[in-house]
Amino acid sequence: MATTSNDAPAEGPSVYVDEQIGSDEAGDGSIQKPYHSAAQAIVNHGPSPPLNILTRKSETEEWAAIGISALKKARKGAEGIEKKKQKALEAEARASQKAAEQAKSKDVVLEEDASLPEAVKTKIKYLEKHRGKRVRVSGWVHRLRSQGKMMFIVIRDGTGFLQVILGGKLSQIHDATLLTNEATIEIVGQLQPVPEEKSAPGGHEVLADFWKVIGHAPLGENSYLTRFNQESGPSLLADLRHLVLRGETQAAVLKLRTCLLSSFRNSLDGLDLKEVTPPCIVQTQVEGGATLFGFQYYEEKAYLTQSSQLYLETVLPALGDVYCVQESFRAETSHTRRHLSEFTHLEAELAFITFEDLMTHIEDAICNTIDHLLATPGVSELMAVLNPEFKKPTRPFMRMPYTDAIAWLVENKVQHVTEETEDLPDDQKVYVDHVVGDDIAEAAERKMTDAIGRPIFLYGFPSHLKSFYMQKMKGPEGQGPNGMAFTESCDLLMPGVGEVVGGSMRIHDADELIAAFKKQGIPSEPYYWYVDQRRYGTCEHGGYGLGVERFLAWIANRYTVRECQLYGRWPGRATP
Ligand code: 4AD
Repeated sequence: MATTSNDAPAEGPSVYVDEQIGSDEAGDGSIQKPYHSAAQAIVNHGPSPPLNILTRKSETEEWAAIGISALKKARKGAEGIEKKKQKALEAEARASQKAAEQAKSKDVVLEEDASLPEAVKTKIKYLEKHRGKRVRVSGWVHRLRSQGKMMFIVIRDGTGFLQVILGGKLSQIHDATLLTNEATIEIVGQLQPVPEEKSAPGGHEVLADFWKVIGHAPLGENSYLTRFNQESGPSLLADLRHLVLRGETQAAVLKLRTCLLSSFRNSLDGLDLKEVTPPCIVQTQVEGGATLFGFQYYEEKAYLTQSSQLYLETVLPALGDVYCVQESFRAETSHTRRHLSEFTHLEAELAFITFEDLMTHIEDAICNTIDHLLATPGVSELMAVLNPEFKKPTRPFMRMPYTDAIAWLVENKVQHVTEETEDLPDDQKVYVDHVVGDDIAEAAERKMTDAIGRPIFLYGFPSHLKSFYMQKMKGPEGQGPNGMAFTESCDLLMPGVGEVVGGSMRIHDADELIAAFKKQGIPSEPYYWYVDQRRYGTCEHGGYGLGVERFLAWIANRYTVRECQLYGRWPGRATP
């Protein structure tokens, strides 16, 4: 039986709403075909004459007149439905207008005017000398703006950015309606300086007389600008690295990397080192078995190289001083901002040198590289974007024996966590002072380097902390407490990054080397070729490895080395 409320006069037609089996789409408000919501009843039957809305929550209930607050809610809901409907109608109208424009735009045909002077095909970088001429340039749409019947586009081609203006018919062709960021286009037109009060990359722009799309990019929800933004998390950015690296900052880092690599080569070539290419597939370790990536190589076990050092040593008698720029691989368990599983390793090896010569050489190589880099055309613009505060280090670099570093850490109350408590929760960890013989962990090393604020050559590490091949220091300086021996080894630490170079003199006596293998429990047979370097005319020699990504992170002021590789590799990341 139906009841009525004061606010829902019963004189209008009765409309039924069943919240369980009613349907807003298929219902008509009759008792046989009730609606699902009272809001839809109001929308379909209108506000007047006032409806007698009868509702029930389920089939087992009696029909009852809608209550006051439910009616208020239904009226609000009806307004919402009307608004939505209106919006949908407007969107439909816009879409059909766009479709009409697009259909019309299909009739607009653009043809290159053969009577115009021939255009010079060029890269953006070389445009300046063609000002006043007709030019032909291809690139990716970097920015895009429409204003009335004009389109302003900035294209990039890897050598620079160029502003292009499409006016009149050029902005009305079908392809113009589909154009979006990252599409590739070819433009032809007059290159002219921008008016004085305006600015554009290179100080000029092309007033196009012809253009065409080479490859479209997606519009809508897959468009380049909607795939990621500044708030996107590191995992999404890594998944979309192939798109992210098109952005100005990432591209600047990678361009700086290119210049840096050629500056390294220029610097080392200038110091009379020859570039060689050692293998990546090896069967020996260099920096400890724990970080080796092993794999099945036909019938045998092999590894991805951790360092090309041993190979470089064997090349000394053939080519003299050598270097390589090669990928090194480390199965690193350290998830830090300076560790990668694959990194670009610049390594060099020099014959007939002393430890002092080695450190002087590293300093020369680095300072010459920085001088060359900063003098490279285009680099000052990149540095202005990435690291305007960068100052090249002053020489000589500070040299600090390992024992002094330990004293500095104690004095400055930089402690380290004990081995027994390092895996416990933070509030249960125990911190103690460093003592001679301790490894200086990354955090402590960084605190010291940042506090000192300039490059530090930290040298003379205890032999038990270092690799098997390191030459021990001679004389009393080489003797530590309790029979500890120090090595002719050095790390170059840079503020903000920490260790960027690790180097040492190498054991050059064959018997001493065999004993060192034995001491570290490494079978020496697979190293026969390495030991032969000592047997067939040995010499005092040494070398170093420089992590290109760490060096770049320092120069380009990047928070992590992960940004300094084309496609970074770290635990859990090998795609794209
Ligand atoms: O100190 P490392 O391990 O020394 C060697 O590999 C020597 N065999 C090199 C040589 O003497 N030829 O590595 C040298 C440098 C480090 O200072 C660091 O810059 C970089 O390589 N490096 C890494 N960079 C990124 N991720 C990692 N996992 C790295 N491991 C080392």
